[in-house]
Amino acid sequence: MKSLPLVSLGLLLVLIQNLLAESTYQPNWESLNARPSPSWFGDAKFGIFIHWGVYSVPAYCDKSTYSEWYWHWLRTKSHDGKVSNFHKSRYGEDVRYQDFAEDFKAELWDPIAWATLFKRAGAKYVVLVSKHHDGFALWPNKDASRTRGYPWNSVQTGPKRDLCGDLAEAVRDQGLRMGFYYSFMEWEHPLFDSDKERYVSEYMIPQFKELVERYRPDIVWPDGEWNEPDSLWRSPELVAWLYNTAPNIDTLVINDRWGKALRGQVGDFYTTEYGNIGGGSPGLRQNKPFEECRGIGHSFALNRLEDYDDYQTRESLVRMLIDLVSNGGNLLLNIGPAADGTIPVIMQDRLIAMGEWLEVHGDAIYGTRKSSLPGQAWGCVTEKGNKVFLHVFDWPEDHQLSVSGMKADHIKKAFLLHDDDHRLGIRSGDQGGVLIDLLGHHPFSKAASVVVLER
Ligand code: GLC
Repeated sequence: MKSLPLVSLGLLLVLIQNLLAESTYQPNWESLNARPSPSWFGDAKFGIFIHWGVYSVPAYCDKSTYSEWYWHWLRTKSHDGKVSNFHKSRYGEDVRYQDFAEDFKAELWDPIAWATLFKRAGAKYVVLVSKHHDGFALWPNKDASRTRGYPWNSVQTGPKRDLCGDLAEAVRDQGLRMGFYYSFMEWEHPLFDSDKERYVSEYMIPQFKELVERYRPDIVWPDGEWNEPDSLWRSPELVAWLYNTAPNIDTLVINDRWGKALRGQVGDFYTTEYGNIGGGSPGLRQNKPFEECRGIGHSFALNRLEDYDDYQTRESLVRMLIDLVSNGGNLLLNIGPAADGTIPVIMQDRLIAMGEWLEVHGDAIYGTRKSSLPGQAWGCVTEKGNKVFLHVFDWPEDHQLSVSGMKADHIKKAFLLHDDDHRLGIRSGDQGGVLIDLLGHHPFSKAASVVVLER
């Protein structure tokens, strides 16, 4: 047989490899759900969510809701006209939402300072809203402007910067992973309003692919999916494309917001929002990690009406993280920076509080799993290898910590994570379980102290 020239053989091999790779995942959820998820996400536990865009200019809404919905509240005169009345008196009826883009200047923005703060907070990943329901793209996506007929991305107007690109670089330089939120649906988009199928194929899919190919996010976090079925968004096809072609497939994770009533059913992790699954979901079905997202106040984007008492305290945030982690979840804690690019000091303070606690107690959070011990009245429990971590919220008045569901002779060693030079005494409790002697020791902070038990 005549031998093929070496070059053609090489080409043939590449072709076969590509064919094989392309057929790995089929565009249906059964095939896509069978993908083993990368483990880093379940170990990371803590990420930072960022809602920042044109809506950060008015930064205003009823305290019960989200300010990134400003345009919607304005059009629908919701909450007894809270936003529409404010808009009329402050800006005048002739000012359109679109006009705010010019005032979204980010003139004080320092992405390195942001990323340094996120690292200091102990976060392992960041998810930036690349495009919210208003359709404004935080990267130089030409189609956002072209399809609307006015400048509608952060390079052509407003900041005049590639916010997605600059932040991704700074975040990765700090050793954190980068992800993007992306809204499928858009308000006031001429194609979305007239022909949704064309909107998806001619605009949304190319835009989504551009975002992913340009920045290779490790977390793809869609939203705005809830009113339409996955067949309209063509999301099984999009996910198959991601899984089959992403060069970072070993680290890529996706959430569960891919179509009506699919939350809790698909993706590498499930999302809850202020404790709710939402989106018409029938509930959580598979054994995957979940991620709770929420603001420090009630809105995701900055709401200037929120004041001190609307923000979670340092202690409650630390406890929230512990509680979620002890239930097998992650916390994606949101910040809403100002239009000038600064992060309000109260949000900085809360992130730093997380970091101060995590710096000492990281071992009890990162890489841990839900414990098999029963619920404990004084706090929460996590586990990792031979270690059980007791997160003590309420330090016992008699300094004797009672742990149910364990036997004293199963424990080799007990100590406080913030004072690991001193061993703690262990004995069997009168009503079963174990008693740990904390006499002579002090809590780490008002938030929580951690007792480590080595088995
Ligand atoms: C929701 C909201 C939104 C927020 C998001 C975060 O779907 O529409 O404003 O961005 O969830 O989870």
